[in-house]
Amino acid sequence: MNNNKFKIKRVLSGIQPSGKLHIGNYFGMMSRMIEYQKDKDLFCFIVNYHALTTISDQALLKKNTIDAALDFLALGLDPEKSTFWIQSDVPEVTELSWLLSNTIGVGQMERSTSYKDKISKGISPNMGLFSYPVLMAADILLFGGDLVPVGKDQMQHLEIARDIASKFNKVYGNTFIVPEADIEKNTMLVSGTDGKKMSKSYNNIIPIFDSEKILKKHIMSITTDSTPIDSPKDKNTPLFKIYSLFLNSNEIQVLNNKYDSPGLRYGDIKQELFEIINKYFAPYREKRLELENKKSDIIEILDFGAKKAKIVAKDFLELARENMGINY
Ligand code: ADP
Ligand code: TRP
Repeated sequence: MNNNKFKIKRVLSGIQPSGKLHIGNYFGMMSRMIEYQKDKDLFCFIVNYHALTTISDQALLKKNTIDAALDFLALGLDPEKSTFWIQSDVPEVTELSWLLSNTIGVGQMERSTSYKDKISKGISPNMGLFSYPVLMAADILLFGGDLVPVGKDQMQHLEIARDIASKFNKVYGNTFIVPEADIEKNTMLVSGTDGKKMSKSYNNIIPIFDSEKILKKHIMSITTDSTPIDSPKDKNTPLFKIYSLFLNSNEIQVLNNKYDSPGLRYGDIKQELFEIINKYFAPYREKRLELENKKSDIIEILDFGAKKAKIVAKDFLELARENMGINY
């Protein structure tokens, strides 16, 4: 979708420490971030301030924060090649968030679909939830992110960040880079086991770091239909879509043919898929177990990342303060 990648300097994205990682997060954002670190300036962070909008248990938030860092490192994020930190270790982002909040209308914020979705689920919104997209814009603008890899659900938040950057530049003079969303057509909306968007909150995930037994249970729970064994099967279904994520185009063609031919049993396909996913993530699971025993090294890595991130943050924040008249 993005044709300007060759021009892009800084790739940046964050993830909330809000629960178990799933293959939607992996294909929608994480695997692409890890790929980018080969030849781009990658900034990656765990957004624990954002998680405060939904988690009030301090022990849980602490655990989730370290877990999310372990997940990223186990999947191959290299702290030498990238800048990797915990959002709250660069608290300047909250100051920028306040500065930016003066450039966006309440009306636009009220139209945020993720805010409206949460309200429609009965969550009584606090100001943190309402201002969530402004803090996200601050995350991006404070570090001069050009390209932001995310799944489809974050598109509107990216639009808000772009609007804020453009408006700020117009009112206060050129200050921020206007970021671009990096969304891949094939992976922007990974299907859950029930055919809806895969999400921690829908109980429809394929987890990455659970045991083989639990992984198998999730795969076996993928919804299928009752088409007779000798009739062609529907490919616009969660099992076919999830399986395709792990195949190249020739292999997808083979699966296509299987779906069109008599004799296909969903149980056999699920078993094949389990074996493929299990093999795919096994080395990452092992790596994660290794890292779990090196918590103090992980803290050091994160501290180092925050120090690197602060250097960039300082310049953008100073410029914003100056341009707004806060430095008197
Ligand atoms: P969840 O919906 O499970 O709470 P998050 O909101 O923590 O997931 O998402 C973290 C990142 O993963 C975001 O960039 C988001 O767009 C991406 N993502 C989450 N679910 C999916 C999905 N089903 N398909 C593609 N990307 C996804
Ligand atoms: N809102 C994002 C999500 O739920 C997380 C996030 C916070 C983020 N700040 C960001 C993503 C900055 C990209 C850039 O997934």
